[in-house]
Amino acid sequence: MRAKFWLERWQKNEIAFHQAEHNQLLKEFWPCMGLGPDDPVFVPLCGKSLDMRWLAAAGHPVVGVELAQIAVETFFAEARRCAEQSVVDRFVCHEDGSVKIFHGDFFDLTAPLVADIRGLFDRGALVALPPDMRFRYVDHLLRIIPDGTRQLLLTFEYDQDRVPGPPHAVHPDEVEALFGARCSVDLLESIITSNLPPRFAEHGVRQAVESVYLIEKRE
Ligand SMILES: C[S@@+](CC[C@H](N)C(=O)[O-])C[C@H]1O[C@@H](n2cnc3c(N)ncnc32)[C@H](O)[C@@H]1O
Repeated sequence: MRAKFWLERWQKNEIAFHQAEHNQLLKEFWPCMGLGPDDPVFVPLCGKSLDMRWLAAAGHPVVGVELAQIAVETFFAEARRCAEQSVVDRFVCHEDGSVKIFHGDFFDLTAPLVADIRGLFDRGALVALPPDMRFRYVDHLLRIIPDGTRQLLLTFEYDQDRVPGPPHAVHPDEVEALFGARCSVDLLESIITSNLPPRFAEHGVRQAVESVYLIEKRE
């Protein structure tokens, strides 16, 4: 059902979440991660995000996972890059030398497929999921990523009673509840944003708080 929702969004090209530019908060806060330039980075629920190109240009081998085949194929086609394909476990893996995307379900990822990652960028992954799935997502994520992995997480905060997500509202107490037992959690920045889907304004939500967290999975 939820997979169907996202696949329909891609099929109908209703992808207002896709950014035509690299994410500003990524560029501003990525240095806080303290990663080496060639440390591999994971981008869960990656869509066809250009942030993967920015990370690759910074030297990081990038690994993404995405449900929608059209998103994966368009990512490489729009960059005019030829991706090799192979079957890996339950995924079709598309790889162009600097970016590797597993086409399939995040919940099918296993630890060996992300064993070498040191960093993670989440823009639009946790907030794409409704509350019950967020717990399942973080539980699975923390089972598969190596200890010591550092994550830059972007969230939105607004009154969820006024308009349904996605992007869903994820408040600081929930971030702490989801990650706090197994990770250090630092709130780096909170800014006001009006960069929201048009239907938010129809429900009277014209602004939200966008927060940036640095989260590190403990050894
Ligand atoms: C809000 S979009 C964000 C995409 C990307 N991170 C960006 O910033 O443009 C969420 C993406 O997650 C994908 N997705 C949703 N559930 C998924 C799952 N279980 N496994 C893999 N991808 C999934 C959707 O197809 C969609 O492309």
